[in-house]
Amino acid sequence: MSDITNKLLQQKGQILAIESSCDDTGAAVCRDGKIVSNLIASQKIHEQYGGVVPELASRAHMQNIVPVVDIALKNAGISLHELDAIAFTQAPGLIGSLLVGSQFAKSLAMSLQKPLISVHHMQAHVLANLIDDPKPSFPFLCLTVSGGHTQIVVCTSPYDMKVIGETMDDAAGEAFDKTAKLLGLPYPGGPLIDKYAINGNPARFLFPEPNIPALNFSFSGLKTSILYFLQAEKRKNEYFIEENLNDICASVQQRIVSVLLNKLKKASKETGIKNICIAGGVSANTGLRKGLEELGQKSGLKTFIPKFEYCTDNAGMIAITAYYKYLQQDFADLSVSPTARAEW
Ligand code: KG4
Ligand code: ZN
Repeated sequence: MSDITNKLLQQKGQILAIESSCDDTGAAVCRDGKIVSNLIASQKIHEQYGGVVPELASRAHMQNIVPVVDIALKNAGISLHELDAIAFTQAPGLIGSLLVGSQFAKSLAMSLQKPLISVHHMQAHVLANLIDDPKPSFPFLCLTVSGGHTQIVVCTSPYDMKVIGETMDDAAGEAFDKTAKLLGLPYPGGPLIDKYAINGNPARFLFPEPNIPALNFSFSGLKTSILYFLQAEKRKNEYFIEENLNDICASVQQRIVSVLLNKLKKASKETGIKNICIAGGVSANTGLRKGLEELGQKSGLKTFIPKFEYCTDNAGMIAITAYYKYLQQDFADLSVSPTARAEW
């Protein structure tokens, strides 16, 4: 280990991380690899529009970012001057939203003369699994399922990840949200489908499993088949949805979960990796969590699910990723810009 790395490690690594990739403004503080505060301000404004409105998201980030950072620092019991680095989500995401967080982080880093760390949002979802104990040992597979992504990632170290499967159209979260919309439920509909599914019969309605090659996914066909199914049933009974909501939700959820877990099982078989993690907002889903545990028991796999607050978008995952970058002195230049899309 170089002298300078040694010195950095002795400095304890108190890092402030900012997340602003979509519609949640987050700030977290990481001390020595432990998350000591993690705050999120969710934006309610989008509910009435049935989805995230980018302009409104940027505006809400501007209103939220100062109080969120302030409270996160207070909860961690440290001042700005005690920080060793400032981290932020650089990509991927809504460009207007990313700009608010990145400009804020860059301004802080410049005025405090502290190093800046840029973080890839999707890599951070994967590394959320390293926040609490028990942590998976390397290599592990991670199924990242959110409103914008569905990916299977091989993670061989905090610095080494590879996407081995992903969706070719809609993300799993979109499949939940779009189904909810067809059922007349508000955005984001994923948690509501989960809630109604608990009291429903998952075997009542059978939706087709898409036949997609390799480790990739597709959810747009499922959405269309749900649409045609509902249209046909409503022609026979206009109250079909209201009278069968629990069973419809349970059946749709069961299909989405089986698609995800079948690919994860296949990925484990093909790679020989037996440590399996999930991440992203959809990993909060009761059916997926239960299904993953059952798969683990049946197939002799070790499964890991982050705490709920680290599943959906949060700054804690940005902070833990930044901590590993900090240990490698992997700092960003002040000229770094956010990007809506990003290579791994
Ligand atoms: O990771 P996330 O918070 O934000 C993105 O980066 O997209 O994921 C949000 C997604 C939404 O599609 C939401 O409906 C879904 O996660 N979600 C759920 C549940 N909780 C959140 N989907 C199914 N069941 C849940 N319990
Ligand atoms: Zn996310």
